[in-house]
Amino acid sequence: MSSLENLSYEERTFAPSPEFAAQANAQASIYADAEKDRLGFWEKQAAYLHWDKKWDTVLEWNSPYAKWFVGAKLNASYNALDRHVLEGRGERVAFYFEGEPGDSRAITYAQMLTDVKKAANALLELGVKSGDRVAIYMPMIPEAAVAMLACARIGALHSVIFGGFSADSLITRIEDADATLVITSDGGFRKGAPFALKPIVDEALAAKKTNVKNVLVVKRTGQETAFDPEIDIWWHEILERQSDIHEAEFFDSEHPLFILYTSGTTGKPKGIFHTTGGYLTQASYTHRVVFDLKPETDVYWCTADVGWITGHSYVVYGPLINGATQVMYEGTPDTPTKGRIFELVEKYKVSILYTAPTLIRTWMKWGDEFPQGSDLSSLRLLGSVGEPINPEAWMWYREVIGGNRCPIVDTWWQTETGAIMISPLPGVTATKPGSAMGALPGIVAKVVDDEAKVVGKGGGGYLVLTQPWPSMLRGIWGSDERYRETYWSRFDGKYFAGDGAKLDEDGAIWLLGRVDDVMLVSGHNISTTEVESSLVSHPNVAEAAVVGAKDDTTGQGIVAFVILRGGIPSVGGEELIKELKAHVAKGIGAIARPKQILVVNELPKTRSGKIMRRLLRDVAENRAVGDSTTLADPNVMKLIQTGLATGKSED
Ligand code: PRX
Repeated sequence: MSSLENLSYEERTFAPSPEFAAQANAQASIYADAEKDRLGFWEKQAAYLHWDKKWDTVLEWNSPYAKWFVGAKLNASYNALDRHVLEGRGERVAFYFEGEPGDSRAITYAQMLTDVKKAANALLELGVKSGDRVAIYMPMIPEAAVAMLACARIGALHSVIFGGFSADSLITRIEDADATLVITSDGGFRKGAPFALKPIVDEALAAKKTNVKNVLVVKRTGQETAFDPEIDIWWHEILERQSDIHEAEFFDSEHPLFILYTSGTTGKPKGIFHTTGGYLTQASYTHRVVFDLKPETDVYWCTADVGWITGHSYVVYGPLINGATQVMYEGTPDTPTKGRIFELVEKYKVSILYTAPTLIRTWMKWGDEFPQGSDLSSLRLLGSVGEPINPEAWMWYREVIGGNRCPIVDTWWQTETGAIMISPLPGVTATKPGSAMGALPGIVAKVVDDEAKVVGKGGGGYLVLTQPWPSMLRGIWGSDERYRETYWSRFDGKYFAGDGAKLDEDGAIWLLGRVDDVMLVSGHNISTTEVESSLVSHPNVAEAAVVGAKDDTTGQGIVAFVILRGGIPSVGGEELIKELKAHVAKGIGAIARPKQILVVNELPKTRSGKIMRRLLRDVAENRAVGDSTTLADPNVMKLIQTGLATGKSED
């Protein structure tokens, strides 16, 4: 849990300015509208989309299975692109793309549509059919969005795998979804240098027999890359010979749109899958009201990679459906300077910026001179997502980035929820630094105690969602039992989010972080089990326990406790620890690399053999160790603490 656990009452509130409120997309009455007739409210939001056929029933709810806009038909890519072109918005810029080396492109809606049509035709040529799964493993370049929309256009499900994941993580996801095509690139640019992706795809596919027939490769960096003419196809070559005519087919509202993997409490990632009509309705509705988007005048920038749900809902689907003009940036925020993001805000006159607390805290650490070096006066709204934002970071964001004039929307949601669930509405909600405030109109969120009883103001417990929502996950790919077990069994009939939460005296919601074994590192979910399994796959490791310990920049940092085969080495310990860190980075991806590895002789276990991570977290966070009376061997914690004096390693 985060430092907010001990939060005292937050006195500071920031009411919307009259100027902002006067022009806001959302009015206070929207809450009452939704409360009076929740399903009617969602129908009104759905009416913003283009439907080829209207629904017969808004919602069919057989807990825990939902169907939204039953009987309706629509196409995601038609809503994101064709519609704008047909209605005269084809020349509007969809993306201002900025590559890390400084190359840039302005891509209009009309160009996006032409590319997506050609890509859709290319997929058809390769035999991809509606319902097939396509793995996308790309850097943050416009072709990633084109690939996603091309899949959606022909009814194939995309499964985007973040470009920082390893060959092992990639193959697990390709296998689980049984993908038949992989779309990748030769590489991308990061921290001033090209990195390679295609060789990782080759390594993944060499490791296991799969049903992947082809690998489509976008040329981004021009690096030399092995090419098997039987399997590999250059994206530009196949697109070049495609027709730019492709009529979008309209699919059922409940037609699956995509799978996106997220870490669960066990080692195996969960393939969260989403369907079309409800997902698009909520992604576009929330994007319109939470970000107050004015498509003709705003320049919107969400810094998330398309490899995460934020990139799906708030780079690809929500903003494109709403006709937004966006900035897309390939690289890291410190290349070539720590002011890069701010320079781009100035260059493109960004008005809406949506980013993560980990980056905000990094900026704070780097110093105010970087944001102050650019003109940020175009900004009018700021958003935060991914983990609790601490009040100090919130205040800094408001003052230094937002010039004390921009409302901040702290948005709580998950891969599973598909779209924002809890957030202030700009122009309506008076905000408190660090609080996501309340459920959006149309959403019902509660905080319950251990016995599933709803807590009152001032109470704390677990966040649950008590009514189905349009963009909710429809399941875990290939594992219905895990779906019921993970989300619906803890509190019968209620969706268990896995987050701790507290209501303050005014009823505002404060999210407190995960209550399960999922860590939030720079806002990314990583399971403790996944890292533990990776560690024990190293020949020198006998046993491992992993915890997320508080980290001032990344929210949580990964701290691992390992028992080595053959005991603690008297020499070469540091080398081995470096090797273990690299082993995890290679096995899962650099985001899972432990910040610290501590070599111990014992791990604290209960009599039933469950590792007591709570006690290890106390050690990792340098606190007095809490109640250890349920340990099988109560002396273990003393042994660990004494032993640590010799085995500590941090870099
Ligand atoms: O713990 C919550 C945290 O991120 C988790 C969901 O992670 P993921 O599925 O990767 O999606 C991240 C982007 C939506 C949640 O269970 N989280 C996300 N946003 C917030 C947050 N915690 C507190 N405040 C937030 N605004």
